[in-house]
Amino acid sequence: METVLSGIRPTGNLHLGNYFGAVKNFLRMQNENNCYFFIADYHSLTTHPTPENLHNNVKNVLSEYLAVGLDPEVATIYVQSDVPEIPELYLLLNMNAYIGELERTTSFKDKVRSQPDNVNAGLLTYPVLMAADILIHNADKVPVGKDQEQNLEMARKFARRFNQMYNHEYFKIPQAYNFGAELVKIPGLDGSGKMGKSEGNGIYLIDEPKVLRQKVMRAVTDAGPTQMNSPISEPIQNLFDIMKVVSAPDTLQFFVEKYNSCEIRYGDLKKQLAEDILNFTNPIRERINDIASNEEYLRKVVAMGAEKARASASKTLKDVRSIIGFKSF
Ligand code: TYM
Repeated sequence: METVLSGIRPTGNLHLGNYFGAVKNFLRMQNENNCYFFIADYHSLTTHPTPENLHNNVKNVLSEYLAVGLDPEVATIYVQSDVPEIPELYLLLNMNAYIGELERTTSFKDKVRSQPDNVNAGLLTYPVLMAADILIHNADKVPVGKDQEQNLEMARKFARRFNQMYNHEYFKIPQAYNFGAELVKIPGLDGSGKMGKSEGNGIYLIDEPKVLRQKVMRAVTDAGPTQMNSPISEPIQNLFDIMKVVSAPDTLQFFVEKYNSCEIRYGDLKKQLAEDILNFTNPIRERINDIASNEEYLRKVVAMGAEKARASASKTLKDVRSIIGFKSF
């Protein structure tokens, strides 16, 4: 049985990128694996949420994960800040993480550029905390989207380094994982780049039909194909990529053929895409609202998850402390 761990930063609601990048697999794997699912609320502090936002966002993500089908009786669903063993492992791993390598990570460099007024130490050591999340359960597989590939590579590096330093093959080397060979990147509707919360281009599972249709109808397109079988431009490829995950294969094929024969009408493509997304999100949205209003159930899920997660985490931390050389008198 393998240990699988998936995480999400609670900075808003779940969008299609989160779902197809990090959750879909997880649902299929719950029964055959030892699955952990957690809400990375410490990570979200890098953006300084208000106390109220912090709590609401954790609650939203928790409700959404339950609504898409995570089963708290089967998987371990927990909030990162309920497991004090994680920050302790983070502290220990920080001693073997070097400033130079942390400064060179793409996500850190992006943040330095995009938020020069808030380049905090938490951002710099973000990959170390992420490694602690993964290594605390000695995870084999980590379902993530393409954007987290480098963070996963850092976690692998820290695990190897620890093993070498103490000459002890203690940590497994975690694999980034998705259903195909490739990690998934769900694009946004703004013509280029990925769908993301900070990009402001998300299609959320919770979006009301009217809002969702508007977002899709406003998606960036191009002037249309001018000759048969011309290469597909990025904005149109992005719409096809989303269609690939929400629509029936023959729907996608229909529009690709229309494109290739220069008969495509982007309005029709968008209408179809919006309806296919809604078909998928409608039942989920209803469940989210039901679950979010059941505070007692949420409390129970979180308490159960914290207990299970701490049982695994405290075992790892005890081993790690002993390997490092902490001994009681
Ligand atoms: P976050 O919260 O930005 O995203 C959560 C998960 O969703 C995936 N994802 C995507 N996948 C495909 N296409 C997209 N457009 C897209 N947008 C987001 C992300 O790859 C991620 O898997 N640092 C992490 C949270 C985290 C974590 C961890 C993840 C903290 N500790 C340990 C795994 C293991 C983050 O900010 O993801």
